[in-house]
Amino acid sequence: RRMGLPALTLLLVARLLHTQASPPVRSFQLDYEEDCFRKDGAPFRYISGSIHYARVPRPAWRDRLLKMYMSGLSAVQVYIPWNYHEPLPGVYDFAGDRDVEAFLDLTAELGLLVILRPGPYICAEWEMGGLPAWLLWKPDIILRSSDPAYLAAVDSWLHVLLPKIKPRLYQHGGNIISVQVENEYGSYYACDYGYLRHLLGSFRALLGSEVLLFTTDGTRAEELRCGTLQGLYATVDFGPGSNVTEAFGAQRQVEPKGPLVNSEYYTGWLDYWGEAHASTSSVRVAQGLEDMLQLGASINMQSPFLQLPSLPWPGADFKDQYKPVTTSYDYDAPLSEAGDPTEKLFAIRTVISKFQPLPVGPMPPATPKYHPSLSLQYADLLDVLDVLCPSGPIQSQFPLTFEAIKQIHGFVLYRTQLPRDVLDPATLGAPPHSICDRGYVMLQKYRGTLERDGQTALHVTGSTGDTLDVLLENMGRISFGANISDFKGLLGNLSLDSSPLRNWLIYPLAIDTAVQQGWPHAALPKLSSGDRAGPAFYTGTFETPGIAWDTFVKFPGWSKGQLWINGFNLGRYWPLRGPQQTLFVPGSVLHIGRPNNITVLELEGAPSTPLLLFLDRPLFNRTLSHSTAATE
Ligand SMILES: *[C@@H]1O[C@H](CO)[C@@H](O)[C@H](O)[C@H]1NC(C)=O
Ligand SMILES: *[C@@H]1O[C@H](CO)[C@@H](O)[C@H](O)[C@H]1NC(C)=O
Ligand SMILES: *[C@@H]1O[C@H](CO)[C@@H](O)[C@H](O)[C@H]1NC(C)=O
Ligand SMILES: *[C@@H]1O[C@H](CO)[C@@H](O)[C@H](O)[C@H]1NC(C)=O
Ligand SMILES: *[C@@H]1O[C@H](CO)[C@@H](O)[C@H](O)[C@H]1NC(C)=O
Repeated sequence: RRMGLPALTLLLVARLLHTQASPPVRSFQLDYEEDCFRKDGAPFRYISGSIHYARVPRPAWRDRLLKMYMSGLSAVQVYIPWNYHEPLPGVYDFAGDRDVEAFLDLTAELGLLVILRPGPYICAEWEMGGLPAWLLWKPDIILRSSDPAYLAAVDSWLHVLLPKIKPRLYQHGGNIISVQVENEYGSYYACDYGYLRHLLGSFRALLGSEVLLFTTDGTRAEELRCGTLQGLYATVDFGPGSNVTEAFGAQRQVEPKGPLVNSEYYTGWLDYWGEAHASTSSVRVAQGLEDMLQLGASINMQSPFLQLPSLPWPGADFKDQYKPVTTSYDYDAPLSEAGDPTEKLFAIRTVISKFQPLPVGPMPPATPKYHPSLSLQYADLLDVLDVLCPSGPIQSQFPLTFEAIKQIHGFVLYRTQLPRDVLDPATLGAPPHSICDRGYVMLQKYRGTLERDGQTALHVTGSTGDTLDVLLENMGRISFGANISDFKGLLGNLSLDSSPLRNWLIYPLAIDTAVQQGWPHAALPKLSSGDRAGPAFYTGTFETPGIAWDTFVKFPGWSKGQLWINGFNLGRYWPLRGPQQTLFVPGSVLHIGRPNNITVLELEGAPSTPLLLFLDRPLFNRTLSHSTAATE
């Protein structure tokens, strides 16, 4: 039977009224009846991937996001590293590569939803888990707790950040569907519900009552106990090695109803210096994804789509010992560090296509890479201290930490004189856990390296008044676990046969700033002769042909150091330890038609012919055998 016209009109009016009344026009909510999300009232689940904008150069943002969109993802998950945007207390940086609003604009332009993770703690294998190291200027601060000093810093940051976020929330016409509070808080020893409650209050006050707030934790009972809070939807994280039924069963213990969500499905894993390159098989990643999607779960894949590593940001872990993360954050991810699609990406895309339509059009292919080679000139670090430390040294009877002299990243040089003749070799050493993280020792010449959780003593000889220099390197603050109050520098006394050395000159070095400002190309340093061991700069120039292609730099015969091109800090190389053997150079840092300046700071020893090679692919997996690494 056909409906009469008046009845049809009534029905239309009723439908119109219904959609206008409830649910509201733009909404993103939890549905506890149907165990799903509801977007504008309709059942919804997301398939998302993580992207760390802070690890991708801005010129490559659109390319990476487009490839994520073309993979069939409906959303991206985005961390905001606090220390990247508030480098000093009350000093904010949202310009250039740090323009998070421009990045969020791009996600919206490409039609991607955003799951935002503004911290304040994020982990992300990022220096100090995203917390600013200046928090440690108050040495007894209890991070990630209700310590009033910590909360005051958090609140002033959130008052700057969250007002930028609010107009971008889905309810307000934007593309941010949900916001995570803290990160894996249940893995932290403090288990301070007062802190989580405080954050909940601040997020609600600054973002409003409608936005969906959630937490993410591991699946162990104690993690879910300390990481969750009434008012924050609890989600879990686990990788392809986990039993999907059991892992979501853990989420059901704390959220008996509502959508199943894996907020970090690990498509790969990070690398530590000195260990084998991590890899996760495409087949297992794809199978695990399919199993979860079949259950109707919402998934975010961690960290599939990246990455430019850039100093000083790689963090470290503490598992029995200090373990710094490699420069590369390739992660064996579906999209390589250079943004090239991998076999894993296509396997994931095939799984996604079984559950939702893929966008029309081809996946952009791998880009060509550039590979010239070049040789370099040389300058000893000790000969250019005036350039690297224009303010001059600080005098102190005993060593001071980086934090005590307000140096956040990089290097500090500690200098003193031998108080007596040392004719027979004496032990130059430091108490355990006081070299943070590596000290390069020079006494007339380079004598070797002291290392956190490694060699903490050397044998030296010399005469009264000889200059002893120890260059201390921060290898990244611990980003996970109980030890994130990770002070840097010489944390204890350096002693000669157990008698503490005194009368130090402490040089906070601003190497990054000097190189960014064009040094040493602008003012050529005094060259010194002698052997090539110990900290020194090597510089040169090279030309690129018509197109600034991406490339990878290899360091044949070099030991350990840092690379800059045109003032851009491309991170640490450490071929002696591996597994990473090459550094990624995004084409966007290269100049076309004029020389590119290259600066290498080699810390231990360069080859007699200092040559760099440019390759068209990365080398990740060359780890020295244990015995070779130990005698290095
Ligand atoms: C996963 O765990 C469930 C419940 O413990 C068990 O029944 C199932 O056999 C497990 N699946 C696999 C693949 O191990
Ligand atoms: C990397 O090298 C180590 C040691 O040689 C080896 O055990 C591991 O399987 C390799 N990993 C990959 C992904 O090739
Ligand atoms: C790291 O934290 C653990 C647990 O609190 C503690 O036992 C250990 O001493 C800490 N290590 C360092 C080097 O601070
Ligand atoms: C260094 O030695 C001096 C003199 O023995 C002592 O007073 C001081 O506390 C020591 N510093 C540290 C950090 O251990
Ligand atoms: C590169 O070096 C030249 C001199 O060789 C200098 O004029 C220029 O400022 C440097 N550029 C950068 C970006 O460092």
